[in-house]
Amino acid sequence: MNQRTAAKLRDDILNRLGGRSIVLIGLMGAGKTTVGRRIAQRLELPFADADHEIEKAAGKTIPEIFEDHGEEHFRDGERRVIARLLESGQQVIATGGGAYMNQQTRDKISETAVSVWLRADFDLLMKRVRRRSHRPLLQTADPEAVMRKLIDERYPVYGEADIVVDSRDVPHNAIVKDVIEALRRAEQTRS
Ligand code: S3P
Repeated sequence: MNQRTAAKLRDDILNRLGGRSIVLIGLMGAGKTTVGRRIAQRLELPFADADHEIEKAAGKTIPEIFEDHGEEHFRDGERRVIARLLESGQQVIATGGGAYMNQQTRDKISETAVSVWLRADFDLLMKRVRRRSHRPLLQTADPEAVMRKLIDERYPVYGEADIVVDSRDVPHNAIVKDVIEALRRAEQTRS
């Protein structure tokens, strides 16, 4: 794509967004952070990773927050941090896998942003999360069972997202392209 076409695509998408942010949702390993960062670059918007912001606000890593205060405390911080991000101007936000399960967060996202679910199947998610061990929910004897349970519980709710893109086992840039194309075709502001 030449520079002029890229600039026009960006303008078209920004027009459609009408100031709304883009929020990436999906399970651990779906690629939300990598894909989100690249979409932000393409659209020349700021990028925020909600997990990282929670860690900054707490002065602790996510495993430490779980360990010291429990999951409920983490969820509370997550809800507040995402609300703050959604109130601080148009940007691309990658959320942690559990964030969209909170009704208040879902409502706020649907008021102020376009939600994009990076849907991935079990095998791909397991392949990706096996490489890293920083996720407290998967520090159990049977991470596969946890992942299956999360798919069952969360996918019906993630299905409320405005846009669904299949995250496949291909380089992240292919998924970035699919998201950009879906945003270009997406409905104008709903309100
Ligand atoms: C979680 C996902 C993690 C992180 C926390 C809990 C979840 O984020 O927020 O470990 O409940 O699915 P990623 O989806 O970015 O790994």
